[in-house]
Amino acid sequence: MRLLEAFRGTAMRLPNRIAMAPMTRGRADDLTGVPHPLTAEYYAQRASAGLIVSEGVWVSHAGKSGPGIPGLATERQAEAWSAVTDAVHAEGGRIYAQLWHAGRVSHPGVIGRTPVAPSAVRQAGRIFSADGWTDTVEPRALGEEEIGEVVQDFAKAARRAVEAGFDGVELHGANGYLIQEFLARNTNRRTDRYGGSVAARLAFPLEVVAAVAEQIGAARVALRISPGNPENDIVEDDGKEVYSRLLTELRRYELAYLHVIDTPDGEVLSHLRPLWLGPLVANLRSGEPTSRAEGESLIEAGLADVVAFGRLFIANPDLPVRFALGAPLAEADHDVYYGARLDGYTDFPPFEPDSAKFACSARS
Ligand SMILES: Cc1cc2nc3c(=O)[nH]c(=O)nc-3n(C[C@H](O)[C@H](O)[C@H](O)COP(=O)(O)O)c2cc1C
Repeated sequence: MRLLEAFRGTAMRLPNRIAMAPMTRGRADDLTGVPHPLTAEYYAQRASAGLIVSEGVWVSHAGKSGPGIPGLATERQAEAWSAVTDAVHAEGGRIYAQLWHAGRVSHPGVIGRTPVAPSAVRQAGRIFSADGWTDTVEPRALGEEEIGEVVQDFAKAARRAVEAGFDGVELHGANGYLIQEFLARNTNRRTDRYGGSVAARLAFPLEVVAAVAEQIGAARVALRISPGNPENDIVEDDGKEVYSRLLTELRRYELAYLHVIDTPDGEVLSHLRPLWLGPLVANLRSGEPTSRAEGESLIEAGLADVVAFGRLFIANPDLPVRFALGAPLAEADHDVYYGARLDGYTDFPPFEPDSAKFACSARS
């Protein structure tokens, strides 16, 4: 099985091509942004993944999207993350921190003030706040100087991540949060050097990459993108040009990897793969979790080097073993995906072959 083959990039060596996709679980202390003590065990249980990408972690409190999301903006948060990275390394794993600024996808009920964005364009729909689902608010447009400060927040969080023992960082440029809000025309209506032309809309994302790469070295920096994903009310009407140009600009760095979220038709990956010479991690968004068969075909087709699996990792901490054995997959109730509850977090057991049952399922 191709997914079980080792992967050797210039900067990254993985024992298999199965990554755990970043997944917010909302278990951190809401007041301090310190990850829950069980978070170390949660990730250590999943250390057989070739690579773990942590849940999105805010780079500044203003970039926090919802209740119970951890940060990497204070010493206390960094200390707690050290315990997590130690636990993963003790199990032989590798873990990148996903650095996140939610931009307008936040709420005064979460951050105590008006969220910031490239422009004062309100997100359609509702958002999950401390009081449950609530109406979105119009964000405040960032001033030019403030943008420089946000860039520095990413760089500082990257430094803290590495000091806390993360093997690298993945910049969250996907799913409608701040970085993608700068890329998309419907959320970026600026007329200064950060908006207007495609080149100007690329300025902020590229400044973040440059600052983070300078801080910790490009070989430990990755970027996640989701071209064309309408999540969080994003409209990318000139996405082909934007992402082609972004990848061309990124070629000057030898990044650890590019992480691309696509629909199962693989259209975005087919377009971007020839433009990207470095390692590519792919993940598919649809109503169903990315499956082993889909992962295999992405690698077979040469569209990805590594495949990230999200939902399957929630209830299957030992997913690579289950793939290898063709073992049955457990399913998690959606209710346990997010929230302060501690069930549905570290209590999914690894696969134990019950010989009679296993013989049956292996044949089917
Ligand atoms: C509970 C949950 C939390 C998620 N949190 C994040 C996140 O913090 N950062 C991110 O980039 N994507 C996040 N995603 C998206 C996943 O990384 C992934 O793209 C998506 O689940 C599709 O992959 P799958 O089919 O393998 O689950 C989340 C998805 C789920 C189900």
